[in-house]
Amino acid sequence: MKDSANSQAISLRDINDEFSLVNSASMAPDADDAVQFFSGEFVPLEMHRVTTVKRLYLRNIDTRKESITKAGNNTFLLDNRDVFLDMLTDSGVNSMSIYQQSAMQAADDAYAGSATYYRLQSALNFVFGKEYFLPAHQGRACEHIIARCFVKPGETVITNYHFTTSKAHIMNVGGVVYEAISESSCDPGFVADFKGNMDLDMLAAETERIGVENISFVRIEAGTNLIGGQPVSLANMRAVSKFCREKGLMLVFDASLLADNLYFIKTREEAEQNKTIHEISLEIADLMDIIYFSARKLGCARGGGIVTNDTALFDTMKPLVPLYEGFLTYGGMSVREMEAIAIGLLETCDFHVVSQTALFVKALAELLEARGVPCVKPPGGLGCHIDAMSFVEHVPPEQYRAGALAAAVYLTGGIRGMERGTLSEDRNPDGSEHLASMELLRLAIPRRAFTLSQLEYVADRVGWLFEHRELIGGLRFTEEPSILRFFLGRLEAVGDWQEKLVAAFKKDMPNGL
Ligand code: F0G
Repeated sequence: MKDSANSQAISLRDINDEFSLVNSASMAPDADDAVQFFSGEFVPLEMHRVTTVKRLYLRNIDTRKESITKAGNNTFLLDNRDVFLDMLTDSGVNSMSIYQQSAMQAADDAYAGSATYYRLQSALNFVFGKEYFLPAHQGRACEHIIARCFVKPGETVITNYHFTTSKAHIMNVGGVVYEAISESSCDPGFVADFKGNMDLDMLAAETERIGVENISFVRIEAGTNLIGGQPVSLANMRAVSKFCREKGLMLVFDASLLADNLYFIKTREEAEQNKTIHEISLEIADLMDIIYFSARKLGCARGGGIVTNDTALFDTMKPLVPLYEGFLTYGGMSVREMEAIAIGLLETCDFHVVSQTALFVKALAELLEARGVPCVKPPGGLGCHIDAMSFVEHVPPEQYRAGALAAAVYLTGGIRGMERGTLSEDRNPDGSEHLASMELLRLAIPRRAFTLSQLEYVADRVGWLFEHRELIGGLRFTEEPSILRFFLGRLEAVGDWQEKLVAAFKKDMPNGL
């Protein structure tokens, strides 16, 4: 680490002692492994204790019906005070460690040249081995800068799979997104260790077809969000990087969901099992020209950033930070959050930090599957993804199956999930509906936020809903924005299925809770 990082309130040595980050020899022999129960039962044992808590409230189903109607059947528009378990996202709602909170107190509040910036830069350099750091207020701000700098109208970005905001920014500057991913990766029932892998044949064929000169860059997204938080293997990243270097193509890495992906590389990829999480992270970074991330996910705080070792790329992107984000040493972030990100990134090198979500996702998937609920296989990172295509196959696809299921799950348990399907896609240029290849309801599991009994409750209520699934009907738009319509769009139920669902629930749970 550089000297600038040594003056933190919590020293890196404290962090190292607590998390055995740097020297793997100091780790207890079993530190890099999940704890097994003698009973043989799988239990995602927490390797942290809770130090601060937040009271939750569960409204009864009549109030929940009023709330979802008021929210236009869009879970993004619900008031959080009407939500019992907020599983909308992991973005900005992960629990922080005491080390992050402590570091926030020592933030250096300066418009320019803040010591906090250099501490964050050092942490990024430690985790990714990249010298240059451009701060931005969140992940999509990085995508905005990268798209503006490198995508020209008519050009293509080849990616393993798009994310909503990454695609919107590429299209906003006239670019096209091509997904090089095998069909089986989009099949919820198909089991493979690394369903996020880029299809190398598709990458080569598309490059050949359109020509290198028409490709802005190749993008790999870690922990591939929209296909169910599915990881990319290190072997696949190596192969894509080799291809890009041979062809002279720039490789951009979206590291927002890297934490879960690191865990899966270490536990599912045989060749990498003896490496530390830190070593794997450095090896990945070495394959990439540009890395960007949402620190609302990676680093368990709120913000974002772009790192690179390439002076020319850095110089191209740099002027856009003061224009769109803020001065170069804060980029729209609060310095307190920047301190928290720095520590959060270092903590991401700890096996027991990166394993937490994956183990909880697996636990919830097993509880749901025991009740017959169809989930994306195998359980990935980020959250549990319910396959709405088969859960409510009787609902017509153009009536937003995953959106309807999201509204029904909220009604049934005060549980707020996120639609990841057709509703999250914008319409085709000719106005026709773009039916998504997957219809998922994501129940995100923010890091270190929920307990196993809360997951049991989710499984119980979703299990009840599955038994009454024939009651669920579709949705239609009453207000439909033209860009990223899922955020602010409003919908209504087709028919009176929600009233019927409420009545059935009250029959089984007379107090309505
Ligand atoms: N890339 C990925 C893979 C993401 O999952 C997200 C955000 C972003 C980029 C954009 O980052 O929100 O900080 O601007 N995903 C959130 C989610 C919104 O809920 O999955 P952001």
